[in-house]
Amino acid sequence: MAVTRTFSIIKPDATRRNLTGAVTKMLEEAGLRVVASKRIQMTEDQAKKFYEVHAERPFYGELVDFMTSGPVVVQVLEGEDAVKRNRDVMGATNPADADEGTIRKAFAESIEANSVHGSDSDENAATEIAFFFNDDEIVG
Ligand code: CDP
Ligand code: MG
Repeated sequence: MAVTRTFSIIKPDATRRNLTGAVTKMLEEAGLRVVASKRIQMTEDQAKKFYEVHAERPFYGELVDFMTSGPVVVQVLEGEDAVKRNRDVMGATNPADADEGTIRKAFAESIEANSVHGSDSDENAATEIAFFFNDDEIVG
C-alpha cells in the first residue's frame, strides 16, 4: 500500500469547543501524520468555491455560513492509503450513522456541524491541498 496524502479540515463546531488537539490525536492514532497545518478564518468566497460541487444541494447556503462561522484548521495528512484511512476514522457524514471509535461519533453535533472534512479521492485530495497550501508549507 502506497503512502499518500489527503486533505482535512477541523470544522468550526470543533474549534469552538477547543477540540483541535483531540481530533488531531485521533487522526494520528489512526496512522496519519500531520505534514501541514494552519488555523484560518475561511472567507465566504473560499467556502463557496471549496464546496462548489454541492452548489445545487439544498444545504449549500447553510454549509457556507457554517464553514465561515468561526476558525477552521486545514491540514495535510500523510499515511498509507491516506484518503481511505482518514474517511474511516472520520465516520459517516451523519453522526447518527457513525461507528463507535470515529471522530464524528465522538464529537459531531449534527449532519452539518460534523467536526471534520476529508477528501473523498486522491484526485480531489490533490486539488483541495493545492487550494489551501503552497508546496513549501508541506513538510513530510
Ligand atoms: O463530508 P462528507 O464527505 O462526509 O459529506 P458530503 O456529502 O461531501 O457533504 C459535505 C458536507 O456538507 C458535510 O460534511 C456536512 O457538513 C454538509 N452536509 C449537510 O449539511 N447536510 C447534508 N444533508 C449533507 C451534508
Ligand atoms: Mg465530501
